[in-house]
Amino acid sequence: MSWRATVLTLFPGMFPGPLGASLAGRGMERGLWSLEARDIREAATDRHRTVDDTPFGGGAGMVLRPDVVDAAVAAAMPEGDARPLVFLTPRGTPLRQSLVRDLAAGPGAVLLCGRYEGVDQRVVEARGMIEVSVGDYVLSGGEVAAMVLLDACVRLIPGVMGAAESAEEESFASGLLEYPHYTRPADWGGLRVPEVLLSGHHAEVARWRRAQSEAVTRERRPDLIQDGRVVPSPGAALHPAASPA
Ligand code: 6GU
Repeated sequence: MSWRATVLTLFPGMFPGPLGASLAGRGMERGLWSLEARDIREAATDRHRTVDDTPFGGGAGMVLRPDVVDAAVAAAMPEGDARPLVFLTPRGTPLRQSLVRDLAAGPGAVLLCGRYEGVDQRVVEARGMIEVSVGDYVLSGGEVAAMVLLDACVRLIPGVMGAAESAEEESFASGLLEYPHYTRPADWGGLRVPEVLLSGHHAEVARWRRAQSEAVTRERRPDLIQDGRVVPSPGAALHPAASPA
């Protein structure tokens, strides 16, 4: 049973997009995971196939109707489908590697992409959706965010990444940003590679890389370090009972 992603969107033509190329694309061709993009509009029931309406309380934009979204979810997930349902929204909890790992370890995910001003909150809550954001900026819809989440998950599925691209040492695996990388030539127009990397002393290289990781993390992401220690990644949102109050 391979990892299964279903995306609910008003723009199914955007998929697979970049997920059809590179590592993710090859993994899909090899049957390690699958992607189904479903048009939310297929769940509309009226003659005009209406999916949205104006917001109660006034304001700009349109809101996706709860009945239409619920019907789209029901059609995508048969009774007993154990996959978590994720709603991509800038209101969501910031996406972290801990949630990515939990999702990748499960049977797959169903992703709801918001458009317009949003989705009626009643269906979000009634369906127990996990609300996730991919960062502190506004995208025009959840589709690109869904691709970000899927890319992050799919590369963790066993067999998708070769040994050459191993996930062991990279950023966030350790809770720190990654050290800098260098390759030949050792002298590029007078710019020399740090001498320790040419030394062949593996322990010294490891020590230097660790120090570089800590320095760049302190500089760019002080939020990842507290009292000189890596901030432990919180229990992922899939297991809310395990997260601190
Ligand atoms: Cl998940 N959706 C949209 N529309 N904008 C975002 C986002 C999601 N995450 C960050 N910005």
